[in-house]
Amino acid sequence: MTNVLVLNGPNLGRLGSREPDVYGNQDLPALTKLLEADAPSGVSIDLRQTDDEAELIGWLHEAVDTDSPVILNPAAFTHYSYALRDAVALVTKSGGTVIEVHISNPHAREEFRHNSVVSGVATGVIAGFGFESYLLALGAIVRRSPK
Ligand code: DQA
Repeated sequence: MTNVLVLNGPNLGRLGSREPDVYGNQDLPALTKLLEADAPSGVSIDLRQTDDEAELIGWLHEAVDTDSPVILNPAAFTHYSYALRDAVALVTKSGGTVIEVHISNPHAREEFRHNSVVSGVATGVIAGFGFESYLLALGAIVRRSPK
């Protein structure tokens, strides 16, 4: 059984009502359902959200210890958290997978969103496809997993 950690950073708990013109109308429980419906047998989805940088970093440490692939939406931490970057590097440099995802396309938005301090140590980045960004990341993880 592969357990995919789907980790979401600050303010993403407000999806559904937060800036629906940017992030859509669906909330995290809806995202969980979409991912679970898409996951093949033998793949489980463990979706979490926190506004707390330390908690998010702890979950990345857990990913190293349990050898779990990660889909990570770092939200605003993307743009400035070197501590989060170092935690992502802990996973990827020990052979694990972290796919950075964004619902919106940060490059098409305000300038401060154009830089990600996480991307340089992530396995890959998918942005701009709404919740489909997460589904694309799950597909990549499944295809890369040893059969
Ligand atoms: C986001 C983009 C970030 O710039 C923003 O701070 C978020 C969400 C996205 O999924 O599009 O909170 O990561």
